[in-house]
Amino acid sequence: MTPGGITRRQLLVATGAATLLSQLPMGLALGRDAGKVPAFIDTLIGKMTLQEKAGQLTLFSSASQNGAAAAANPVTFTGAVSVQIAAAIAGQLTGVFNSSNVLWHERLQKAAMQSRLKIPMIFAADVIHGFTTVFPVPLGESASFEPELARRTARAAAMEAASVGIDWTFAPMVDIARDARWGRGVEGSGEDVLLGRRMAAARVQGFQGERGLADPEAVAACPKHFCAYGAAEGGLDYNTTDVSERVLRQTYFPPFQAGFEAGALTTMAAFNEISGIPATANKWLLDDVLRGQWDFRGVVVSDYTGDEELIAHGFARDGRDAARLAILAGVDMSMQSGLYLKHLPDLVESGEVPLAVVDASVRRVLQLKAQLGLFDDPFRRIRPSAPSRQRLPETLALAREAARKSVVLLKNDNQVLPLRAGGQRIALIGPLAQDWDSTKGPWTLFGGDDSSSDLASGLKQAMADPTQLSVVAGCGYQGPLPGGIEDAVNAANAADVVIMAIGESRDHSGEARSRTSITVPQPQLDLLDAVAATGKPVVVVLGNGRALALGELLPKAQAVLVGWYLGSASGLGLADVLFGAYGPSARLPVSFPRESGQVPYYYDHKITGRPDPHPEKLSAFKTRYMTTPNAALFPFGFGLTYGRIEYGGLDIGDGRLTVEGTLAIRATVHNRGTRAAEEVVQLYIHDRAASITRPVQELKDFRKVALAPGASTQVHFTLRRADLLFIGQDLKPTVEPGTFDLWVAPSAEVDGLHATFELLA
Ligand code: BGC
Repeated sequence: MTPGGITRRQLLVATGAATLLSQLPMGLALGRDAGKVPAFIDTLIGKMTLQEKAGQLTLFSSASQNGAAAAANPVTFTGAVSVQIAAAIAGQLTGVFNSSNVLWHERLQKAAMQSRLKIPMIFAADVIHGFTTVFPVPLGESASFEPELARRTARAAAMEAASVGIDWTFAPMVDIARDARWGRGVEGSGEDVLLGRRMAAARVQGFQGERGLADPEAVAACPKHFCAYGAAEGGLDYNTTDVSERVLRQTYFPPFQAGFEAGALTTMAAFNEISGIPATANKWLLDDVLRGQWDFRGVVVSDYTGDEELIAHGFARDGRDAARLAILAGVDMSMQSGLYLKHLPDLVESGEVPLAVVDASVRRVLQLKAQLGLFDDPFRRIRPSAPSRQRLPETLALAREAARKSVVLLKNDNQVLPLRAGGQRIALIGPLAQDWDSTKGPWTLFGGDDSSSDLASGLKQAMADPTQLSVVAGCGYQGPLPGGIEDAVNAANAADVVIMAIGESRDHSGEARSRTSITVPQPQLDLLDAVAATGKPVVVVLGNGRALALGELLPKAQAVLVGWYLGSASGLGLADVLFGAYGPSARLPVSFPRESGQVPYYYDHKITGRPDPHPEKLSAFKTRYMTTPNAALFPFGFGLTYGRIEYGGLDIGDGRLTVEGTLAIRATVHNRGTRAAEEVVQLYIHDRAASITRPVQELKDFRKVALAPGASTQVHFTLRRADLLFIGQDLKPTVEPGTFDLWVAPSAEVDGLHATFELLA
């Protein structure tokens, strides 16, 4: 029985596919094993024309889209509604993406059911951080250091998206991002490999759910962009990437591997080239590594016109050549260019592309559809008359939980925070004060009505007397407003405390939003200067989609919160933290350098032959800038609480790790303060000498612990030999005996508790 109470037979008969029934192994559509291809798929492939096969490998942007979805990509030819309906009937379209219109999905699916072979359509979408309920941008959510939270928000997003017919999300984005100029870091988990792996796995599990992909509330995940998109030179989007195979294997591959191990059955080829070969035509990457070495059996989709862009890269001569190169490299599905539809039949007939290659791609696509349960019931996620699953109270409550858990406290002089919710006049100043549009972040295509999610609304709801709040923009994001500074200074003078909501608008990050300088724009710093000159305590609440260089800003503020773009419950979540209903518990998933010129800056950099022993003073002939040390202003993992945290009592036993053994690590964390706190306890190591130079520190584990005022807790970690693997000279994982440093610490780049241990041969 299907979840709708109809038998599989009834459904197949209803959709005209009864002849296939005898070949469909019962239960397989519910299975998640990408290895088994149901026999009916090969029967089906045997009946398909070349044109129909090319159609199954061709995905187009939906003809029916809202404005935000349409604006997410360059305008290219997609075809009108009637064209897509005709293509569906002709069996020349595998599916469409970025529509949220369930009636349109129903119409297209009905059209596909009129096609000769009645192969169901797949509906995809960029469901990146929520659907109609918007959760914090993935970078912000990663600051929670709570993979379980990421799993739950992905689950909720999948539930909303699936209920309008979406089968497949182009998420999670798992690109390690180490250059804050690159605008797309906002979509991922930041700079660290371990955090990236854990978040990738959690998000895949969340999207896909626990009941198998055929569950009507599951959507297939697509870890993207494979690979090394985040390593773009100069942080410039789409730019050349030139990284060694070792760095690929050590840094950029692991989050993908974690996503696949968690069950993801699709991936997207990246736009960029890697060392001269575009990812979309990179046979080594897609065939040798992904399918050969990792045994990935799922679908590789190109990025938006990624195959056609092989021409601009200077890798393909023309569209035909581009289609040939992409399919031969292992790209199963062409997104948006239409090149497969146009050229594959001819390429097969001419012998330039073996039929077996096309069939293998078609098999993978049909298998994905089978796993999603679409052959069982093409309408399983298309339920126009079912009760709405959008923005349920519990989903909005989750958005608030996620929002407050994403806020990082960087500075809190004289414990200016938390503010009192009554009895003080607050001036809220800055372009982000009432900009609910920016709370959505750059990749919200389907968000519901969040017009009361801005900071001003959130504060008013939390304040005992909302008339004690005055709100002034003061300036725009990039330029002054007439009389803006004067208004802001007047508001500050009339208040007891000022909250400055400044930073980046949603347009500062996202795709094609690279910046040359990662600072808060100057007009906003000028505004801050003027307000700070009033002498009133200033709390800065940043809106941002990347690490920012805060050197200039910091001295002007008594407190600084990193607020990212927090989504549907942005204002409420921030108010929870500002007024202390919730103590800040997030940690930076990216290092905040001192100056823009340091980027790419990341904490697990190499040591070099001339490390700088005294970063705070200028030493000659050391690895540092003339004016700036080679260190972050706020390192990866950093974040304060409203408590007063102390670390002590490090115990690592005899400090010897044997081949089969484990190293048990214990440390005690105390909250000596008067307010509750959640601490993210982090375990770092450094391999002192190895046949490949090792980073100065590497995160190996973390635990988030809640501590009541005055409470202490012992935190346990376990290290195994496998945790110490690195990619050796032969490009294979290896581990070498020797001495290791170990730190249990509140962030990277601080001493914390230190010990050394020996890895025995
Ligand atoms: C982006 C992808 C996205 C696709 C479809 C591309 O421009 O790089 O991440 O999934 O568009 O919207």
